[in-house]
Amino acid sequence: MAEKEVVETSEAQIAVHWAEEGYYYPSPQFIAQANMTDPAVYDRFSLDNFPNCFKEYADLLTWYEYWDEILDTSDAPCFKWFKGGKINASYNCVDRHLADKKNKTALHFVPELEEEKIEHITYQELYVRVNEMAALLRDFAGLKRGDRVTLHLPMVPELPITMLACARLGVIHSQVFGGFSGKAAADRIVDSGSRVLITMDSYYRGGGLLDHKEKAEIAVAQAAKDGQAVDKVLVWQRYPGKASSPTPMVDGRDYFVNDLLKDYYGVRVEPEKMNAEDPLFLMYTSGTTGKPKGCQHGTGGFLAYVTGTSKYVQDIHPEDVYWCMADIGWITGHSYIVYGPLALGASSVIYEGIPTYPDAGRCWRIAQDLDVNIFHTAPTAIRALRKVGPDEPAKYNYHFKHMTTVGEPIEPAVWKWYHKEVGKGEAIIVDTWWQTETGGFLCSTLPAIKPMKPGSAGPGMPGIHPIIFDDEGKELPAGAGIAGNICIQNPWPGMFQTIWGDRQRFVDTYFARYCKDPNSKDWRDWPYLTGDAAVHGPDGYYRILGRIDDVINVSGHRLGTKELESAAMTVPEVAEAAVVPVADDIKGKVPDMYIALKPGFEASEEMTKKIMTAMITEIGPIAKPRKIWIVPDMPKTRSGKIMRRVLAAISNKQDVGDVMTLANPEIVEHIQGMASK
Ligand code: PRX
Repeated sequence: MAEKEVVETSEAQIAVHWAEEGYYYPSPQFIAQANMTDPAVYDRFSLDNFPNCFKEYADLLTWYEYWDEILDTSDAPCFKWFKGGKINASYNCVDRHLADKKNKTALHFVPELEEEKIEHITYQELYVRVNEMAALLRDFAGLKRGDRVTLHLPMVPELPITMLACARLGVIHSQVFGGFSGKAAADRIVDSGSRVLITMDSYYRGGGLLDHKEKAEIAVAQAAKDGQAVDKVLVWQRYPGKASSPTPMVDGRDYFVNDLLKDYYGVRVEPEKMNAEDPLFLMYTSGTTGKPKGCQHGTGGFLAYVTGTSKYVQDIHPEDVYWCMADIGWITGHSYIVYGPLALGASSVIYEGIPTYPDAGRCWRIAQDLDVNIFHTAPTAIRALRKVGPDEPAKYNYHFKHMTTVGEPIEPAVWKWYHKEVGKGEAIIVDTWWQTETGGFLCSTLPAIKPMKPGSAGPGMPGIHPIIFDDEGKELPAGAGIAGNICIQNPWPGMFQTIWGDRQRFVDTYFARYCKDPNSKDWRDWPYLTGDAAVHGPDGYYRILGRIDDVINVSGHRLGTKELESAAMTVPEVAEAAVVPVADDIKGKVPDMYIALKPGFEASEEMTKKIMTAMITEIGPIAKPRKIWIVPDMPKTRSGKIMRRVLAAISNKQDVGDVMTLANPEIVEHIQGMASK
């Protein structure tokens, strides 16, 4: 129970409860062209047919050697899919399309500056660039199968090229979100044991060229302090051949990738025949403790799951132009910008910048220019676009057949604007609920089969069998009308394999709570705890309410409250820090931070600034609290535990409930007084 105990205020407790909405149905035109129209798919993927049903997904891929055991449970809950199979993800996303699609665009790169040309990279060009980069990684950087390498790249085509080059060699990539600080990158370099860092000198954000190379300096220095030497820093250039960062290169350590690539011109690298269960990548995510977890995703299972769900939920056909506006630094980008769409031979759009730069019409101009017909984004972006330009979409001539929302609950009013204005009433919407750990979708409607319902994600995906338990482990059936802890009864191919280097944490965090027998080798004994609260409607649709643990979902970015608190604690004057989620119109949730200073220190504007700066240095700008409240003392229980529930109630302007049992009830009124000013 290592991770579960300290929960006092969860997102779920302050979740909004929306009124029940009616259904929206897909158009006959959509159904006529959809990849999945057979309602019997749910029977084929029923628990009775588990795990063999997932053969359908595996058969979308090209295998060097076909697998002989679909699911190996001998090391439960570390499940292995497609055992005995040999496969390469880079081959599946690139080489296999050359025969009939070499001239087709694989990646459209849209730079943030509108005056810069859009780059269209064909599958042939992708093949060449991935091979040359793979040769460089192998021969210059000395990377080989099983090594880990940290990438700290922005939204540029060099990111998927580097990922696919790693996958070609069997090197495990660990991409750190570009907006994270150098220090945050260092933690992930150390944990993964990377001795090579791949970064970029600069990139555009909000119209300005940011110096990104400076973060590499901090990352390498901090990693060295923490015991992990980085001996090579490979630097892509935003403008090849031109210096775009004032941060100097370090002789014998830093190399411009563009210079090195000249030595690998024309080299082709045979893809490694990986075991299906070999790791493909690590993706770090936040949990209950301060230390981020490296979610380890396997090769065959992950690729099969994201390819299947891209085909049947995203409804991607090779001729579609598909734009997922997430960042590849998060799982959504890995699964649904890079691996899933490219495995299907689609054209995937990568946009460098922010959706509202230089104005509220930017997204719709991109959609019009590239004739995008599938669009995928998070409620935060939808809310922001609605706020700044509610009438903008109508001004542009694009037509989406399909739109996705992901990452947070979407309120029905926002859903309806998305449907009517962005989708012009023509596009279907899928609300996809899933997580970094799960590799791909858990709940969503199948677009041509199940109607949409604003505010609900939908039923479990084919082959995903959710179950809601109460705190005592009793099942809450559909229609119970009570929220509980949503779990998945069965493993699935996209599920992560373990936490890198910490199997015990993997077991404790995700399985210990409802495991029936810790020695069991039967998958039925290992329900997966998602960490979300949900309600199961009488129609079988799930409504996701938010996290039950100490995780806050800010703009669809997942932050651990402990992580934020540890960052504030790096300021020497800070004695205690407590972070709570606050409901926000645009971002869904934002963190409020309460601080108690050590004796002898006073609250001041300077102190607030110092703490704010620490958040940016330790984690990145996404970690900035909405507000920092420096309080004389924290509300505490008699045993000295900070009552985050009370602080959250104050921040959310809700009733604080009975506080008389606290050790210091008078402080509550004092803080309420501060917050009401
Ligand atoms: O709370 C759920 C919320 O985001 C969490 C997972 O965050 P992360 O690992 O960063 O992955 C985000 C992209 C998949 C979940 O535990 N969440 C994700 N999608 C939805 C959602 N909440 C409600 N509705 C969704 N569609």
